[in-house]
Amino acid sequence: MHRGALLFCHALVAAYSCVGSDLRLGGNAAARTRHASMVASSPTEAKEAMGSTDAPLLVRAARGEKVERTPVWMMRQAGRHMAVYRALVDKYPTFRERSETPEVSLEVSLQPWRAYGVDGVILFSDILTPLPAMGVDFAISEAGGIKIEPIRTREAFKRMTEHGAFNPQRDVPFVGDVLKLLRKEVGPSGATVLGFVGLPFTLGTYLIEGATGTKNGFAEMRALRQDDPELCRDILSLLAKNIADYASYQIESGAQVIQVFDSWAGHLEPAEFEEWASPFQKQVVSSIKERHPEVPVIIYMAPDTHSREGALLEKLAASGADVISIDHTIDIGEAKARLATAGYPNIGLQGNLDPVLLRDGTPEEIIAGAEKILKAAGNTGHVMNLGHGIEATTPEPNAALFVNTVHDYKHA
Ligand code: CP3
Repeated sequence: MHRGALLFCHALVAAYSCVGSDLRLGGNAAARTRHASMVASSPTEAKEAMGSTDAPLLVRAARGEKVERTPVWMMRQAGRHMAVYRALVDKYPTFRERSETPEVSLEVSLQPWRAYGVDGVILFSDILTPLPAMGVDFAISEAGGIKIEPIRTREAFKRMTEHGAFNPQRDVPFVGDVLKLLRKEVGPSGATVLGFVGLPFTLGTYLIEGATGTKNGFAEMRALRQDDPELCRDILSLLAKNIADYASYQIESGAQVIQVFDSWAGHLEPAEFEEWASPFQKQVVSSIKERHPEVPVIIYMAPDTHSREGALLEKLAASGADVISIDHTIDIGEAKARLATAGYPNIGLQGNLDPVLLRDGTPEEIIAGAEKILKAAGNTGHVMNLGHGIEATTPEPNAALFVNTVHDYKHA
């Protein structure tokens, strides 16, 4: 990064962070932060931390605790829909530059927090970011086109197996750097820092397709599952191991919650989901939980042919995640009732305002939509969010209205 750019970002962070803390510093925020920053180093300490009421609001909600008000953030909140982000794009033209330069990634991560006062601040990065550290390079065009040299043969898979052990600290240090800085910046306000990873099935589709699979119905992934299931399984298993290590690295760098994305698993039929998504979801979640039992894990899948209306809800709950981030094709009250019946009465829920309503709705419609969800979900174990990422053309005042509506809502 150029020295000028560095100074520019530092100045921005310094200028804005005072404003952010002044506006949002709760009475006991400093004490809360001090407690939250203590890292549990033994299983006993971890258990104590789990029962803590001093943790930040979003962490407590994600642990299933009853909270004084519902916390809110928005998937893909950092990025395209904000004018301040688009201005930065002119200066740092590639996504990889913006997401892999700590000062710029930090700046972008903070933009929605400054603008809206969201309770969750997610690292500005991508699910593909750790791939080069596993031997797989990638490029993203400004139109959003993803390019990867595909892995569909044993020979090509050697690029991963012969790359050497995945070592995020050594190979993607900028991710840890940003998380550390984020904790410092937003901690005093009581906001929560979220890390994230792509789960093996979804990440695997990019490796195997060499591009997004959403355009061809994941044809290459389908073919490999059929023609060489053993290789397909080996790719997903290696991803599972690396991704769990990557999530732990994020936690050890400052992430207080981890969201795991299996965005594209909803195109799998239930039996296929059991074979190609579930086992790897469980492997990643349990490996994170073994190392960091105090850190809530949120799992998300996008609406697709086989996941609409919560069709795979119970299977997602079986992943072992603390919270399911549901899309907008199911009523949140119904999701809650169904999960209770399936034996998950205490699992948390995140979501689920329709991002199209947020983009196109009138103020009255946005307020009514948000309040309907708040009422149905109650104030125990709910994190407000959208049903999928915020749309690029969403007017910023709509996003502000959504966040303010959640902040102002008083549970009966
Ligand atoms: O949208 C989802 O379902 C979430 C999971 C997911 C992410 N990246 C997380 C993310 C998926 C499936 C991806 C893959 C990916 N990477 C896409 C999706 C579409 C496709 O073609 O398959 C795209 C466009 C990228 C590249 C990318 N990622 C860009 C250009 C940006 C920045 C601005 C933007 O939003 O377009 C990202 C940021 C990104 N991807 C974040 C996350 C969690 C940033 C943090 C946030 O604000 O949430």
